[in-house]
Amino acid sequence: MNKILEGKTALITGSSQGIGKALAIGFAKLGANVIITGRNQENMEKTLQQVEQQGVKGIIIPGNVQNYDEVQNIIAKGKDKFAHIDILINNAGFSRLKPIHKMRVEQFENILKTNVLGVYNFSHAIVPHMMEIGSGTIVNTGSAIIDSPGPRWSAYSMSKSALLGFTESLGIELKGNQINVNTIMPGPVDTPLFRMGMTEDMIKTIGPMAPEDLVPYYAFFASDQGKKVTGLNVDINICKSVIEMGKNSWSELKEIAKEKLKPESFKKAKKYRKLINFLLQFNK
Ligand SMILES: NC(=O)c1ccc[n+]([C@@H]2O[C@H](COP(=O)([O-])OP(=O)(O)OC[C@H]3O[C@@H](n4cnc5c(N)ncnc54)[C@H](OP(=O)(O)O)[C@@H]3O)[C@@H](O)[C@H]2O)c1
Repeated sequence: MNKILEGKTALITGSSQGIGKALAIGFAKLGANVIITGRNQENMEKTLQQVEQQGVKGIIIPGNVQNYDEVQNIIAKGKDKFAHIDILINNAGFSRLKPIHKMRVEQFENILKTNVLGVYNFSHAIVPHMMEIGSGTIVNTGSAIIDSPGPRWSAYSMSKSALLGFTESLGIELKGNQINVNTIMPGPVDTPLFRMGMTEDMIKTIGPMAPEDLVPYYAFFASDQGKKVTGLNVDINICKSVIEMGKNSWSELKEIAKEKLKPESFKKAKKYRKLINFLLQFNK
């Protein structure tokens, strides 16, 4: 797809590595200037180098998503550099998988402060700017784990579940301001976070997604096709299974999807139809 994000600026949290880094490079390829943020300077410099190789501008503004003053500083410096920030990707996050009786309350607080407060901090600080420029796109990184409950996931799952209600409510609240708010919920993605404590055999068995493959899911919401879509919590596994049906558009695959998917999943797929059309066009 061509430079559909040309002229826009994207602020991507957690872009020093993993999914955020892939989104930074992917958005740069689509023409966006990128504000890279995280805490590891060396990793952020590596991202910046690859962003600039795409012929766009990038800037590193470090900070901790848990700290509101640092968040405001990132946004202020980003505005100084680019005048407008059109896209916010709330992606920074982490997990510690432990049974509840082994998780210290401080560790749980740290998960919440990153995965929940961090999203709130950035959204809170950027919305006045997006209102001022008359439009904006916010996309959060959730997780499909909330639909696949299991032991040791309770703290992380609780933090990612919080994004559902946030997304739906804020989506409605900001509709009149031309600001769309959505959450992408990936399954396993091959990143340093995912690889923690895994052997190569375990990774092979799980078969995680490549982080680069997530780019169109996020880019859609900043594109002309997706700009009016808001309040969605996107289950990537449903999108992937629909795309694998091998058709060219939602209208061609709708009946097959109805037959093959569970009724609940089909209901969700119908809500994703514009995104599905975009994904089908993206790599052509
Ligand atoms: N990988 C998966 O399988 C998977 C699946 C579903 C959802 N997710 C979600 O996807 C997002 C990205 O995860 P990932 O797999 O790419 O993990 P990752 O490789 O560990 O990257 C996490 C990023 O978040 C940043 N970060 C973490 N805590 C931060 C803080 N307090 N302040 C500022 N930045 C912070 C890190 O930056 P620094 O290290 O520079 O601080 C890093 O850039 C997370 O929200 C995660 O929950 C991941």
